[in-house]
Formats: sequence, structure tokens, C-alpha cells
Amino acid sequence: MVMRGLRMSSYCFFFLTNFFLLLLNISAGVSALSRLDFPPDFVFGAGVSAYQHEGAAAEDGRKPSIWDTFVHQGKTFDKGTGDIAADQYHKYKEDVKLMHKMGLEAFRFSISWSRLIPDGHGAVNPKGLNYYNNLINELISYGIEPHVTLSHFDYPQALQDEYKGFENRKFIEDFTAYADVCFKEYGDRVKTWITFNEPNIVGYGFTGCSSPFGVNCSVGAPVPEPYKATHNIILSHVAAVHLYRTKYQEKQKGQIGITLLTFWFEPVTNSVLDIAATEKEIAFSIDWFMEAIVYGRYPAIMRQRLGSTLPHFTENETNMLTGSFDFIGLNHYQIVKVDQHSATPSEHEGGSIPKLVEYIKEKYKNPTVFIHENGYSTEGDDDPSSPASYIDTKRIECLHKNIQSMLPTIRNGTNLKGYFVWSFLDGLEVFGGYGKHFGLYGVDFNDRNRRRYPRLSTYWYTSFLAKNGRKTETSSLLFAQ
Ligand code: BGC
Repeated sequence: MVMRGLRMSSYCFFFLTNFFLLLLNISAGVSALSRLDFPPDFVFGAGVSAYQHEGAAAEDGRKPSIWDTFVHQGKTFDKGTGDIAADQYHKYKEDVKLMHKMGLEAFRFSISWSRLIPDGHGAVNPKGLNYYNNLINELISYGIEPHVTLSHFDYPQALQDEYKGFENRKFIEDFTAYADVCFKEYGDRVKTWITFNEPNIVGYGFTGCSSPFGVNCSVGAPVPEPYKATHNIILSHVAAVHLYRTKYQEKQKGQIGITLLTFWFEPVTNSVLDIAATEKEIAFSIDWFMEAIVYGRYPAIMRQRLGSTLPHFTENETNMLTGSFDFIGLNHYQIVKVDQHSATPSEHEGGSIPKLVEYIKEKYKNPTVFIHENGYSTEGDDDPSSPASYIDTKRIECLHKNIQSMLPTIRNGTNLKGYFVWSFLDGLEVFGGYGKHFGLYGVDFNDRNRRRYPRLSTYWYTSFLAKNGRKTETSSLLFAQ
């Protein structure tokens, strides 16, 4: 009886879903867009990160990372921690099946350094090593391409305690040794490596402070620590790239890059002052890293404003930095309107990806670019049984608008090669905790089993991806509930 009831409600949900998708198609022209409109070598995926989704924080030899420490100080909005998160550590097989049913071509995730080398350096944890081997094998067995980030806002707390992590040049050596283990162990199957996720906000943007998540600094003040920390991150990036290129790339035939948080900044008016303020914002966020890895220097505006607070690269570092990437990952969510007094982010305004990608093309020699994160968050829809939690038409509209906006810029010759929805499923938000949802799949965080449930956007992305010449199993998504 119960089973029949469940089946019936699944069927009702199925018909409702199709009904909503039909309405959406009509109102937004969604059906006009399909994966077939994009070149075959363009890749569509979705992503997660270790601390936000894996859970099993104290299991199988994992030790705390700086992110564990941060959230255990009650720093998230709802005091949530990643101790269990979406429990992907235990549910990765189920998740990979869901990805396959969705038709995902690629999956972006990060390795928890604290799981692999719990003390930051020294012994490799065999169970940690095994977990990522299993996850990668599972993805490959379904033909899903892994895009793997080495540090997504985290590194072992031991390194913070020992020498203040990013702030110390010793970090470079430890990061390179960790990257070496990853390339050696997983590089036969992982063909896309991201050294750091959003290093341009790690030491500075979150709160304007020096430590990775920031404490006790005034926002935007020219204190030296953020620049010192990011200088060491840039040098760690280049050391890992150098290692990959000299020791692994020829054999493994993969690519390596870095992924930045990139707002699209626009002046409020055309006044000289607003335009200058906008240029400053771009320099202090995008150009800061782009100039370093494309030309081996920091932007002139930063140098003028910061003077000796901004570290220098040696000649040898400049040489190594120049062109030290195979691709640039862009995480893009919002437009920021800038005037001489303030910078104000918009709420989920879509369609600005082309402006960003064209900017990178023109200024930085048209590199290969992936949109490594783009998505839409909802709040106040925590009860999975309420329609508000799964009828996410606004998310669909945003994804649709952004995906469609990429077409002209691809046709215009940019090297835009992929797009990843953030996120594949709900997780712990950096400051928002569990009250802010980005997932195509929702997660019931009150359920011990962390049940996944598809949102309408799951069906939308599935149907967008289905027109690719391959056969997908759209309707069987229902029974994942
Ligand atoms: C981060 C993710 C985060 C997302 C949404 C990005 O800046 O890389 O970890 O969940 O924004 O806030």
C-alpha cells in the first residue's frame, strides 16, 4: 500500500514536473535551447566541494582543515558545520548514478587535503587515497569527466598551527608535495586540475582580512597579510603547474589551471570617477591574478595604491609565472555596480558571462576558459515536502539565460570550453550555512540519510543535456526520490 502510494505520488510529481516544464518552455523559450547548439568539445557539468558536501569529517583518518575550525567557531549563519554535510563520502555511488541520469558530462569536485595527507605533510592516509580513487573510478565508469580542485578554501589546520598556512612561504613546498601525490595517484584518470578555487577572495575578499577566512581586520584596508597570503598562493600555483608540466603532463595529457571568483563590474554612470572606481575593482579582483599568471606581474593600479605593501616577484618567478596555466576557470554569479563610493552586487542578474569572457579574451590573449561555477540560490525553502523547495523556476530562468548568453561569445571566437552549474546538490554554504540552497538536487538535512530530491531544475538541465545524440534516462530520475 505504502509503495503504491509512493509510486502514485511519484507519478503525480512526474506529470506536475512535465506540466511546469512545458509552461516554462512556452514562457522562456527554453525548448529552443539544447546541448546540440554547443560545440561537441564544449563540456557541461555541475560541481561540489569537499568540505561543503563530503561530510565524514572525522572518519577514516581525516583530520581538521582550517574550514572545520572556522565553522566550529560558530561562524556560519545557522552555526552549521560540515561534519556530515550532504554525506557524499558515503553516498558517492548514489550521487554518480544521479549525475549519469542527469546526463552530466563532467563533475567538478575538490580533494580534501586533510583527508589525503591529514597533517599537511608526511604520511598519506590510505583510506583517503582510496576514497578519491573510488570516486574517480565511479565517475569514469559512467563516462563523466572529473574536474578536480586541489584546494577549495581548505588546507590542513596543522599547517595553520605550524606556520600560519598561506602566510608563510613554507606553504609552497607543502602544497607542491600534496599536488604531487594527487597527480601521481589520480592523474592517469583526471585530465583537468584546478590548483585553487577563488584564491582572489581567500585572503582578502571574505572579510578583508589576512587568514583564509579572515579575522580582526578592517575591510579593504591596505594591511599586508592578504597580499602576502595571495602572493604565496600564486607561487604555490606556479610551483604545482611547473611540477605537472615537467613531470606528468606529457604522459598524462591533462590540463592545469586556476579558478577565480569573477564578478562583472559596471560603472553606475559614465563619469570619469565611476569608471576609474570600476577599473580599480577589476584590478583588485580579476587582474590581480590574471596579470600575475599571464605576464608575471601585478597590475599597475595595485602597485600605485599599495606601494611596498604589495610583494614583488623575482625575475625567476616572473619567468615561471608567465603563461603558467592551460585554462582559466571563472566562477560567476553577479554583476556589481560601482561608483566612486561603493560597489553593490546585484541579485542574480543573468547574462553577463559574455562580457566577462570577452574581457578576458581581449586583455589576456584569449585563453581557454571554463565557467566553473554559475548558479542561483534560494532561501527559506527548507521543508522538502513543500513545493517551494523543489519548484525552482527562478533558478531555471537564471541558468537558461546564462547558458544561452554564451552562444554568441563562442561563435565570436572566445575559447570558452565548458559550463558547470553550482551546485550539483545542496551543501554547507560558507556563511549561509544550510539555509541557502544552490543545488539542482535538494538535500533533506533533517534526514539522517541525507535524502536527495530532484528540483524542477534537475529535470530542466536533464532535458537540456538530453539532446546530445546520447540516450539518457530522464524519467528514472523520479525514483531517486
Ligand atoms: C564558492 C562556493 C560557494 C558558492 C556560493 C563560490 O564562491 O566557490 O564554494 O558555495 O560561491 O556561495
